[in-house]
Amino acid sequence: MNIVVLGAQFGDEGKGKIVDLMTPNFSLVARYQGGHNAGHTVYVNGKKFVLHLIPSGILHEGVKCVIGNGVVVDPQALFKEIEELAQLGIEVGDRLLISDKAHLILPYHRELDVLSEARRGERKIGTTSRGIGPAYEDKIGRRGIRVCDLVDTQALADEVRENVSARNRIIKDSTLDWQPVYDQLLAFGVRMRRWTGDVSLVLDQARQAGQRILIEGAQGAMLDIDHGTYPYVTSSNATIGGACTGLGIPPKAIHGVLGVAKAYLTRVGEGPFPTELDGEMGNRLRETGMEYGASTGRPRRCGWYDAVAVRYAVRVNGIDSIALTKLDVLDGIETIEICTGYKIGDRTVTEFPSDLNTAGTLTPIYESWPGWTTPTKGARDYAQLPAEAQRYIRRLEEVSGVPVGLISTGSDRLETIIRSGSVVADWLPRKN
Ligand code: IMP
Repeated sequence: MNIVVLGAQFGDEGKGKIVDLMTPNFSLVARYQGGHNAGHTVYVNGKKFVLHLIPSGILHEGVKCVIGNGVVVDPQALFKEIEELAQLGIEVGDRLLISDKAHLILPYHRELDVLSEARRGERKIGTTSRGIGPAYEDKIGRRGIRVCDLVDTQALADEVRENVSARNRIIKDSTLDWQPVYDQLLAFGVRMRRWTGDVSLVLDQARQAGQRILIEGAQGAMLDIDHGTYPYVTSSNATIGGACTGLGIPPKAIHGVLGVAKAYLTRVGEGPFPTELDGEMGNRLRETGMEYGASTGRPRRCGWYDAVAVRYAVRVNGIDSIALTKLDVLDGIETIEICTGYKIGDRTVTEFPSDLNTAGTLTPIYESWPGWTTPTKGARDYAQLPAEAQRYIRRLEEVSGVPVGLISTGSDRLETIIRSGSVVADWLPRKN
């Protein structure tokens, strides 16, 4: 049984921890989109690991980690991550496989990302400045350079020469020479070769051999290039379709979808966020939840749970169950709000609008629920949760239109509730 774990909000839902705790039930963990804009934080025995590109499955001995063709790979970021893992005593060895069809992020993509943001001025996206957008632009513009292109050929030389000259035209007074870029790419190619191959084929063989694959999304539904709050999105399909195109697997290879959602909501970068909280409550969520970007350190914007958005993510992705994370961050809050719809002028909207940016004077419609005083922090059993917390979860299930099969009550693997009778319990016969 192959399961996809993906973000049901604006990213940073805590997918890293969920993937990490599910991994012992799988032979392979595969990532299908995004790049090192992602930051997956995992705590094991009190030790913090932040992974950006390599799936967090790498922390588990014997698990193979796959980076699909839908991912954009910055070779320097990749090598750095491999070295950092080695310093922590984790050898990647031959457990890593990168698609030879994955596109590369080149050093000048980062520059172009920063420049594009500067040019947008007040309309900036608030990107992670990792060159993600420009790399995907080159891919779609059919001038991208893929992992398999990194061999000393005339075709690569021509491509690099053209790309560098296009870049020189964009960046004022720039006279970057293509030759050192070419030489560097060849060196990257040599170093990467041992880890590259045909991901689609390897995943197919794994399936034939009855091995289970855990498929990991980065970012979240609201940041999806097609289904998110465009243009304030990332440049890839974080939603379910990306899993097929980004790994070269058919839809029937996917047997379940676990959406990860925080018990409240955060967003990093610019763009619409109807339930955003300014002031004291926003600060409280940020500080208690340690809501600072894992990749960029930027403070995250914080707000109440938006059931309209999660319901939308459930529809687009066919989410079977939600992993509700950071419930403990709400401990001690007197009244908790859930957004169940929006008011646009005198209209009530309960479906996620296609254009949230021009929705005008949009105000969230809230339901107020009593909070709890007994802490949920570290709870490992549903019955241990205070009645108010159970009621809050029940209400989230109703308004989001999906059951909550897993609840995270702290950053450690062990601080987790897997609800018996849920599909998540079926997917995870082996517990940690
Ligand atoms: P980019 O992916 O760097 O182009 O950034 C586009 C938007 O996606 C910005 O608002 C980023 O803050 C956001 N973003 C990208 N990656 C992540 C992530 O892993 N978590 C949360 N937001 C992200």
